[in-house]
Amino acid sequence: MKNKLDKLKISALKNIQQAEGLPALEEVENNILGRKAGELTELMKGLKDLPDEEKKITGQLMNEAKKEIEAAIGARQEELAAKSWAGDLEKERIDLTAPALPKMERGHWHPVSIVQKDLEEFFASMGFVVADGPELESEFFNFTALNIPADHPARDSQDTFYIKNHPNWVMRTHTSPLQIRSMQKYGAPLRVIMPGKCYRNEATDARHEHTFYQLEGVVIDEKITMAHMKGVLEAVAKHLYGPETKVRLRPKFYPFVEPGVNGEVTCFLCGGSGCRVCKQTGWMEIFGAGMIHPNVLKEGGIDPEKYQGFAFGFGLTRLVMLKYGIDDVRLLESGDLRLVKQF
Ligand code: PHE
Repeated sequence: MKNKLDKLKISALKNIQQAEGLPALEEVENNILGRKAGELTELMKGLKDLPDEEKKITGQLMNEAKKEIEAAIGARQEELAAKSWAGDLEKERIDLTAPALPKMERGHWHPVSIVQKDLEEFFASMGFVVADGPELESEFFNFTALNIPADHPARDSQDTFYIKNHPNWVMRTHTSPLQIRSMQKYGAPLRVIMPGKCYRNEATDARHEHTFYQLEGVVIDEKITMAHMKGVLEAVAKHLYGPETKVRLRPKFYPFVEPGVNGEVTCFLCGGSGCRVCKQTGWMEIFGAGMIHPNVLKEGGIDPEKYQGFAFGFGLTRLVMLKYGIDDVRLLESGDLRLVKQF
């Protein structure tokens, strides 16, 4: 038995020393001292079969061996714990002398989006909702329903992109088709703005681009007059260019309004005396507007005997150019980061 005990002790001490990691050490401990099937435990169970005088000596030896093994396990535990702590520390180490990460670029709004968002907030404060609509539009909504019949010359001045094999689809030339869509969807009374992208078949130059933005607005209720229209448009002009700004409405023909006007504001730069920005006129044209034609109200499913309303369309792209002094409209759609990064 003494032989057995010696062998056991030697192999136990070796295994303890070789255990890499606390879980492995625990397993070793269990194999030797485990209450159920630990090797030493089993050996000690055999004590009771020995003759009395041997029992005493062997028992003592066994207890000593057990203590030695337990001490070895304790020592190894401390060793392993210290090791893993050092490993964690190493992982958390920060090299303060390492070169910095390259600066992350942050995204930002396109100037058109900046102006659009500003106007959306302003109109929302006056109780308008903001709506959206398709850029690929039916010819009906873009022209016919807006009182622009097939042979009307207004179709020539708003030439656009037609879709192959789909003769009734066009890229919308203005946001005005949304007048009808919003009426059909929400009915009267109505207070809505609809900003969005528009397209025209232009020979592009610094003032003309095939893709640009407008912001359409519609107000419909009982007893709406041109005075309401002017009030709203003046509020917008003052919001954009300051409290001194004046609005001038001059007659202009649009088939979908009657009467129709072209809206100008006093130049924000010279205040009306004439400068480079306003081409020496003192005025800047920024919107078209008018009282909604009864035919258009009917197309929108609204009774023109009961309701009236006005519509307006801001040249959003133009507002952006004026605000930031951008003198070539083509820059806005160019995707040139040198432009966009300035805002
Ligand atoms: N849709 C017109 C244009 O593109 C602008 C407009 C909108 C005029 C609403 C009157 C009323 O020129």
